Amino acid sequence: MSAKHTTDKPWGGRFEQETDHSVEKFTESVSIDYRLYKYDIAGSIAHTRMLQKMNVLDAGDAEQIISGLQAIQNDIEAGKFTWQKSLEDVHMNIEFALVERIGEAGKRLHTGRSRNDQVATDLRLYLRDEVDLLNSEIRHVMTVLCDQAERHTETIMPGFTHMQIAQPVTFGHHMMAWFEMLKRDLDRLQDCRKRINSLPLGAAALAGSSFPIDNAYTAELLGFEKVASNSLDAVSDRDFVIEFCAVASVIMMHLSRFSEEIILWVNPMFGFIELDDAFCTGSSIMPQKKNPDIPELVRGRTARVYGDLMSILTLMKAQPLAYNRDNQEDKYALFDAVDTLHACLEVYSGLIPAITVNSERMREAAKQGYATATDLADYLVRSGLPFREAHEAVGNTVAFAISQSKELSDLSLKELGQFCPNLKDDVYDYLELNGSVNARDYTGGTAPEQVKRAVKEARDFLINT
Ligand code: ARG
Repeated sequence: MSAKHTTDKPWGGRFEQETDHSVEKFTESVSIDYRLYKYDIAGSIAHTRMLQKMNVLDAGDAEQIISGLQAIQNDIEAGKFTWQKSLEDVHMNIEFALVERIGEAGKRLHTGRSRNDQVATDLRLYLRDEVDLLNSEIRHVMTVLCDQAERHTETIMPGFTHMQIAQPVTFGHHMMAWFEMLKRDLDRLQDCRKRINSLPLGAAALAGSSFPIDNAYTAELLGFEKVASNSLDAVSDRDFVIEFCAVASVIMMHLSRFSEEIILWVNPMFGFIELDDAFCTGSSIMPQKKNPDIPELVRGRTARVYGDLMSILTLMKAQPLAYNRDNQEDKYALFDAVDTLHACLEVYSGLIPAITVNSERMREAAKQGYATATDLADYLVRSGLPFREAHEAVGNTVAFAISQSKELSDLSLKELGQFCPNLKDDVYDYLELNGSVNARDYTGGTAPEQVKRAVKEARDFLINT
């Protein structure tokens, strides 16, 4: 930038040797942080406006800087910008290009700021946008879950505990359980956004600037809710990255749990669902195969996002105040977590509608598993038996049914009567799968009416919040 430098580095004034090539290669971050260009430019424009307002920059210089930065953004977006690793990072690449383009005025842009508060600002602007995008992607997945749930309010499947058939539930109810997980994730994401939305610019390197900085004005221009209260904290805080990666990990954990179920359900031994061909892949050796690679990859990528969380936690654990170069590494974890989430949510918003439910198979499985045994026990309790005795009686009934290779509802009243006292004909209403799910007709229950209500409330939530 300046003719008297021995090196071509913007920080090269006090240096008497060229940077070693291996050091340049080792320290550069532009190959990853170029992705922040839009936010870097937005931050610089807001900083310029603030400096002009405070009479640190005159209007002519400010105008030149702003139009220069806008022209650079156009060049970048048109693929006409050459990023130089020798200029280290996105910030110095853009600043260097600005000086090349507008000369003297460009050299005034960095007044009253440092790359330390600059990169922290860029990262927050970037992540705020990504959070908003993820928010709508999660909502899309929630919408397609509602669609499936609505189609299957009456479809009965076995519910599992310990991966053993437990009690009948409706498939719609199962879909709405997934919905609830994502709803909590949305909440977590919004909460995390509050702490992203604070402006570090003005903290400069660490101690603030000696210029009259109006950071409240910069915050207003950039849509930040508040300004950071402490300059040391502002440049070194990456809690928001950690929090985001933690939220991302929870979201991935949920998607991974869905994946696990989908993988089981498409297995012909379950045969509960089928996935459209468009959402499966084949085997290069076994011609008959149709594999659930998408959910497997989502499950696999969950590991990556957990790794991102571990990486950023570890990155921060031993950093004294204030900024340390370690922080440059935060982008690997953050970008990976963001990209992975986008990819998984996108593919799931297509995959969920591509599920075809095999209602007959599900019903058969629920019938075979003595899933209404608890309903029989509840029936006996209603006729006066203490629950523990009812439990015992039904246990004996199930053992008998197994020995006869029969379902509970296939047993005659006389057969049932050997173990269970006070039975009437209406007991069969409760041994039937439909009777069982219909009985659970209150908030949170699996009854078709409740699932309809849950879907309606869910859609209201998606429209109104
Ligand atoms: N590329 C750096 C980062 O991502 C920018 C800040 C560098 N600051 C410094 N004083 N070396 O963290």
